[in-house]
Amino acid sequence: MISKQTIDKIFSTIRVEEIVGEYVQLKRAGSNFKGLSPFHEEKSPSFVVSPSKQIWKDFSTGKGGTAISFLMEIENFTYPEALRHAAKKYAIEIEEDRQEFSEEAKIAQTERDILYKIHEIANDYFQNILWENEEGRSIGLSYFRERELKDDIIRKFQLGYSPEKKNSFTEYAIEKGYSKEILEKSGLSIFPENSPAGIDRFRERVMFPIHSFSGRVLGFGARILKNNIKTAKYLNSPETEIYHKSNVLYGLNQSKQAISRKNVCLLVEGYMDVISLHLSGIENVVASSGTSLTTEQIKLIKRLTENVTILFDGDNAGIKASFRSIDMLLAEGMNIRVLLFPEGDDPDSFARKHPQDYVEKFIENEATDFIDFKAEILLKDAGTDPIKKADAIRNIVKSVSFVQNALKKEVYLKEVSNKFGLSEQSLFNELDIQKQITQNQTQHQPKEQQKPAKLEIVPQQAELEDSVQFNIIHQENKLIDTMLMFGDMVLERQDANLEKYEITVIEEILHHFEDENYEFQIPTNQKIIENIKIGIENEEIRAGNFFITLMDEDITLKVADALLSPDDLSDWSTRNIFPPAIGDHLAAEVEANILIHKYYYIHLLIRKMTADLENHRENNPTAYFDSIKKIMMLTEFSRQLATKLEWSPITKV
Ligand code: UTP
Ligand code: MN
Repeated sequence: MISKQTIDKIFSTIRVEEIVGEYVQLKRAGSNFKGLSPFHEEKSPSFVVSPSKQIWKDFSTGKGGTAISFLMEIENFTYPEALRHAAKKYAIEIEEDRQEFSEEAKIAQTERDILYKIHEIANDYFQNILWENEEGRSIGLSYFRERELKDDIIRKFQLGYSPEKKNSFTEYAIEKGYSKEILEKSGLSIFPENSPAGIDRFRERVMFPIHSFSGRVLGFGARILKNNIKTAKYLNSPETEIYHKSNVLYGLNQSKQAISRKNVCLLVEGYMDVISLHLSGIENVVASSGTSLTTEQIKLIKRLTENVTILFDGDNAGIKASFRSIDMLLAEGMNIRVLLFPEGDDPDSFARKHPQDYVEKFIENEATDFIDFKAEILLKDAGTDPIKKADAIRNIVKSVSFVQNALKKEVYLKEVSNKFGLSEQSLFNELDIQKQITQNQTQHQPKEQQKPAKLEIVPQQAELEDSVQFNIIHQENKLIDTMLMFGDMVLERQDANLEKYEITVIEEILHHFEDENYEFQIPTNQKIIENIKIGIENEEIRAGNFFITLMDEDITLKVADALLSPDDLSDWSTRNIFPPAIGDHLAAEVEANILIHKYYYIHLLIRKMTADLENHRENNPTAYFDSIKKIMMLTEFSRQLATKLEWSPITKV
């Protein structure tokens, strides 16, 4: 875990305008910056960054938050991934909090850190050889150029070259102080008995670094250059502490933004397929690298999109084996399309033969849904044999049985029914049989623990339209926003004896909520208040800046909402128009907003009591009269409040 000190250091060092500026072209607008939303196609800017508040807000999608939450949005990072990324950019050293770990765990973590580091060093080394070294340039670089790769693509994928010499990298790493033990564990070197100086695993090969989702080098794939040699064409890093093949997709780091923007992921087989498609401007592509797809890999894609198009080589012998991947994707709730390239082509060769929009259109138009795809392949084999034909249909229904969503499942079944002219009923029966088979098969395996879906208590639309409910929520939000924006400001007040006293905005509003025993309508507000209370117990005022580093998704969005308004998009100051700032009349505003909130809250209470009246009248006369008395009292109180607020009293409640 990253230590609290490091997190604080990161937040106090990084600049939101610099981090966002790497993705969005920002223009000054008064004290803010504005630009086109990176999350949404648009012509006029609706995206604001505030350097003074260190937050951003995208008015077209409603997203907003800190520099870190921006990285999480745009790169699809987890919170720690985003922190690490920012720390790296600003050269902040990450301190890990390891108190809660055992000695053993601490050592393991350090070892993983060293393994990451040594891969980073190896990656730099192989690239350096490719670009700067004579052998690297004449063999490695010219190989890539023969395959028509441009320099920027070679750099984007950080391709490299490992020299012919038996232990050139091993020697380099040992000189840098890495132990034989760690080199062996990294899979980069081998130390046989008869070669104490060690041997590089990868020799005379072009190197393809394999990155994690967030861009750390985990291992390498390495291609031999001569085609006629009797050794594996690609040699890959072995499984290590940091490289687990089944958890990694080649190209994900370079492709994730395009995948999420295009909302579809192309799935290919090879390293070169990914790279060539990028070269042709098609950047939403990853490779399973010759292994069959795993659930973990699908979950990585699912962070970005639920749509996958599988691209197959035209002469792929393993298509039928791929049926398993289709079923797994369906079981994970993905939508699948499948595309077969013309005979003799793989995505790499096809992309190099044709211009970009031709390739794009081809993928778009030729990809079929999995039912058509399986049908075509299976029916071709079945010929006219009715038994084989029935088998083929059963096989397709089996895939449909993996679809989790009931509605989608039904749509697919309808499609199968139309396609083969079979009744839906018989297909449903078949589906039931399939279900039983699958259940029996999985009976003895431990079931993956299902997390209950996150339940958000959001007021129902019907209730929202109800004005009392709407007003109370609106006013509750307003008070919370005021706490976030101006929480630490000090107000001057007079008590009943006309004695002056000072109180922070946070405390004044908090006292009001506590006095009323107020129940929050919005869970996020409740969360914020709980945090503020903990702060007060620790003699700390928690306002906007505190919540910005808290990194609760709902809260940061709320803070950004509170601190930036659409007015920030325009440069008011240059036109000599200043929007009225709430802060200008803070003391009066806070007082009024508390009273208005109280006013609506009383109405809410009156309504609740009125609703119970009927009930009491029949069963409990004492409670009935009590309630009537209370309602009358509250109504009177509300009238007084309205007068105080210079409103006409609302009679109808
Ligand atoms: P391919 O044989 O289709 O390779 O294997 P390719 O990507 O088209 O390579 P080029 O175009 O000849 O350079 C597909 C993938 O299977 C894995 C690699 O990940 C490769 O990209 N593979 C293949 C291996 O791991 N080892 C091998 O010996 C061959
Ligand atoms: Mn190829």
